[in-house]
Amino acid sequence: MANPVFKKHVFVCTSGKVCPQQGSEEVLKALRQEIAELGLKKQIRVNKAGCFDQCGNGPMVVVYPDAVWYAHVRTSDCKEIVRSHLLGDKPVERLLYDGRGKIV
Ligand code: FES
Repeated sequence: MANPVFKKHVFVCTSGKVCPQQGSEEVLKALRQEIAELGLKKQIRVNKAGCFDQCGNGPMVVVYPDAVWYAHVRTSDCKEIVRSHLLGDKPVERLLYDGRGKIV
């Protein structure tokens, strides 16, 4: 039997040229750790991704199916992203990004 699809799918730019220099691997690890600690691995997946063409605003994180983009994410932001957005459906406004820079 196939596994159910994920409720949220999180992509972290780890294969671009800039985000890894800004700490995206650490952000990926912090997101995965928080999700594992909360027992959410069957509902939420965090994947490595290539460049989002938004270089210089990293680490960049994108959440689907919400199509919410985050810029300049730090490891210290990850608990809040998981608890507020991924669990509570309330995106973290101060990190939102719309292609021109942070929204807030
Ligand atoms: S290197 Fe991350 S958006 Fe380009």
